[in-house]
Amino acid sequence: TKRVGILTAGGDSPGLNAAIRGFGKTAIGHYGMELIGFRDGVTGLVENRYVELDAEALSGILTVGGTILGTSRDKVHRFPVDGTPQDMVPTVVENYRELGLDALIMLGGGGTAKNAKRLVDAGLNVVHLPKTIDNDIAETDTTFGFATATEIATEAVDRVHSTAHSHHRIILTEIMGHRAGWLTLAAGIAGGADIILIPEIPYTVASVADTIKARTARGSSFSVVAVAEGARDADDTADYEAAQLLVKAAKTPEAQRAARTHLANVEDQQREHTFRLARELEAATGLETRVTILGYVQRGGTPCAADRLLATRLGAAAADHVARGEFGVMIAARGEGTAAVPLGDVAGKVKLVPPDHAWIAAARQVGTGLGD
Ligand code: F6P
Repeated sequence: TKRVGILTAGGDSPGLNAAIRGFGKTAIGHYGMELIGFRDGVTGLVENRYVELDAEALSGILTVGGTILGTSRDKVHRFPVDGTPQDMVPTVVENYRELGLDALIMLGGGGTAKNAKRLVDAGLNVVHLPKTIDNDIAETDTTFGFATATEIATEAVDRVHSTAHSHHRIILTEIMGHRAGWLTLAAGIAGGADIILIPEIPYTVASVADTIKARTARGSSFSVVAVAEGARDADDTADYEAAQLLVKAAKTPEAQRAARTHLANVEDQQREHTFRLARELEAATGLETRVTILGYVQRGGTPCAADRLLATRLGAAAADHVARGEFGVMIAARGEGTAAVPLGDVAGKVKLVPPDHAWIAAARQVGTGLGD
């Protein structure tokens, strides 16, 4: 009998429980494997905290938001021990061996792919499933959580139209997505935003203000702007990219620490960028301007049908891979099917919206401003 561990890591995302169930029901019911679930992501793996998962534990969780296992953003190679980051990969390997595991299933986003790769390199049999509302994982068509978050953010963009229209205001709706614009672009298009600002297209305040003024001249004295949390004006983008380059170029540990601190400062200064943009637009257009930050609403609650379907089929496919003894891969969504992609092709990569993407073209064609 094969014995398998499963964990969920990184930010919670709709569909995590559906994926645990998809994997678990297939592994236990179809293949007769045993399953344990580590608590709180990588933390449970390091601290050896887990629960036995049987058919009953997997029942009724398909529609439940969050993750029944808990999650964290801890990293295996820089795990905080008494406040100091330590490499806990050897501890994880020891725990895995002592528990008699044949495989470890890791559900998570970009950070989890990196952790998974570190464990593969240490000799563990790992399969990764791509989860995130950000849709920014390389090599997969999409990730579970993204469709649900798109529904929620779309509804928000829809709904702020009422107030924008009735009060003749500009409303900036800030949408998550980390450094990628997928969620904002999708929800902005589907929700009929007048302007969509994403990190991949640095904006200028003058261009955004011109689009709004042109709308006012045409008789629409309101504007709804979908702003990605990672969107920046051209100057901020240059500062951020320069700080990132410094981190990459830093050779010594001291230089790395200094460069990371500088990057964190730049990020801190830019954190409230949506409020700054609101003040700038109010000054430039004379229209009253408000901000709505969607925040964790976007990650909460029951997954939509598309995410339940995706999570279930990726979970079931992961069990097939374990049964066949194929490891070191992420199970990617490819059209209606799946593909096993080596983790080396995924870890450390971020999938941004390409400038020639069909959604960008469509947004431009329907006359949506993109701030450039
Ligand atoms: O990756 C998912 C995500 O919600 C991003 O969109 C966002 O930048 C980040 O997580 C927020 O992280 P936290 O849960 O640590 O606040």
